[in-house]
Amino acid sequence: MRNFTCVHDLGDLNKAVKEAFEIKKDRFKHVELGRNKTLLMIFFNSSLRTRLSTQKAAMNLGMNTIVLDINQGAWKLETERGVIMDGDKPEHLLEAIPVMGCYCDIIGVRSFAKFENKEEDYTEMVINQFIKYSGRPVFSMEAATRHPLQSFADLITIEEYKKTARPKVVLTWAPHPRALPQAVPNSFAEWMNETDYDFVITHPKGYELAPEFSGKAKIEYDQAKAFEGADFIYAKNWAAYADPNYGQILSTDRAWTVDEAKMKLTNNAYFMHCLPVRRNMIVTDDVIESPQSIVIQEAANREISAQVVLKRILEGL
Ligand code: CP
Repeated sequence: MRNFTCVHDLGDLNKAVKEAFEIKKDRFKHVELGRNKTLLMIFFNSSLRTRLSTQKAAMNLGMNTIVLDINQGAWKLETERGVIMDGDKPEHLLEAIPVMGCYCDIIGVRSFAKFENKEEDYTEMVINQFIKYSGRPVFSMEAATRHPLQSFADLITIEEYKKTARPKVVLTWAPHPRALPQAVPNSFAEWMNETDYDFVITHPKGYELAPEFSGKAKIEYDQAKAFEGADFIYAKNWAAYADPNYGQILSTDRAWTVDEAKMKLTNNAYFMHCLPVRRNMIVTDDVIESPQSIVIQEAANREISAQVVLKRILEGL
């Protein structure tokens, strides 16, 4: 594998999940694979889980790691071509990217949607520039429209906990005080649509995801109805996608918060969220602290999903 930005880069998902389970049994089996190889992790945005889990996965494979927070200590970067650089950005991404490529073998990039220009976000300008100009394999640590390492960890977690071959998995919108990108729900939908699961998305009207991501999922505007018989509840907030409201908050209705009463409608469903989560906005304390909450196990699987991806990229070097 050269680059990893979406589910299609991984090929056969059953094979990938099997590989993940193998790695989970012995995460140091391939410790020689990354010897004398360097991973550079570039963060344009904050992170706890992605930063720690990806670095740990690289260490399990024997790699060296360098972490760069662009906004803390690096030069402010201009990203637009043709700009007269007489402002506060002394370096252009088009020099910075190949320079970064000189110091490493693989690059991971985190760069969220900016909600300034939908086309720029949905053409994945930043990560695609890394792919084009770094001369190195590049993987997404959450880009503008997708978070594939998270979705892969989510899939591994569902495969671990599912009690039937074809579980009902519900992605539910939930309220949040800030406008959040669609990357996690887009990506989760994209991965779930590659499985045989009974996959349902529920959200208030106006929060429809881009059709290329919602795909064949059932859309249900009545959250209680969507929860009926569910085996997994995956909660997440996102801002509106559709024009003219792209990037806007249309609702903070706490009637959509996942609480015990709603979880009672399910088939004793497991509760999932990618974290960080705002308690009593997205989910109540009682639900996230309940035995059915598997958010910590889900976060733990981030190490495994990152290790499968890094292993495959190292094998291709
Ligand atoms: N879920 C996730 O990507 O967490 P971080 O933003 O903390 O990396």
